[in-house]
Amino acid sequence: MNRPSLYLIMMYVVVVSAAVLAFSCNAADQQPEDVKKWLEQRENHKKITKLHFYFHELRERTSTLVAQANSSATSPTFFGVTYVMDDPLTAGPEFTSEPVGRAQGLYASASKEEAGLVCVFNFVFTNDKYNGSSLSIFGYNPTLRQSRELVVVGGTGVFRMARGVAVLSFVYFDVAGGNATVEYNVIVEHY
Ligand SMILES: *[C@@H]1O[C@H](CO)[C@@H](O)[C@H](O)[C@H]1NC(C)=O
Ligand SMILES: *[C@@H]1O[C@H](CO)[C@@H](O)[C@H](O)[C@H]1NC(C)=O
Ligand SMILES: *[C@@H]1O[C@H](CO)[C@@H](O)[C@H](O)[C@H]1NC(C)=O
Repeated sequence: MNRPSLYLIMMYVVVVSAAVLAFSCNAADQQPEDVKKWLEQRENHKKITKLHFYFHELRERTSTLVAQANSSATSPTFFGVTYVMDDPLTAGPEFTSEPVGRAQGLYASASKEEAGLVCVFNFVFTNDKYNGSSLSIFGYNPTLRQSRELVVVGGTGVFRMARGVAVLSFVYFDVAGGNATVEYNVIVEHY
């Protein structure tokens, strides 16, 4: 064995030992058993909640146009039109049925080829055990399809670290006037 390769082997040993030492120091409480226990504790606290409610939009009463492009008016999909909403959520399909919260946020026409919205809003709950908790929603909403789904990207309060799916379909939709009643079935995993 000549000197340069011996030197390289020694350097290798030093570097690898340092790496192993550093790893084992940082990983003192990260043994496979510890990680497994941590994961099980989390998994044991995982809950699945299913929510069912109705959403009501009365154009220019519960929602308002905040932006559009000059070209939006001549676009077949109203491309660029952006609304902000504070829409009531109710337990039943009637506007006057028991309130459970609000859908607050915005939606914009983001497709040039079909009626398609990008939705960014929060479900802010005001009823009994969910009072003050919220779910954050994001997603693609091709409004002319009967059944669609949005993504639950997070939550607060009882819905901390939530993720899930919100399936929606029209109960009533007045295309010209923009008034709509939408049924929501939401499934979320949270802790
Ligand atoms: C939009 O239309 C208005 C009114 O006709 C005009 O003053 C403005 O320059 C237009 N903006 C663009 C970006 O074309
Ligand atoms: C929800 O919480 C608010 C603020 O804490 C409170 O004023 C309201 O009475 C609560 N509503 C219900 C239904 O518990
Ligand atoms: C939308 O609903 C509001 C409030 O109920 C009503 O005044 C309005 O006429 C409706 N618009 C259409 C186009 O149905």
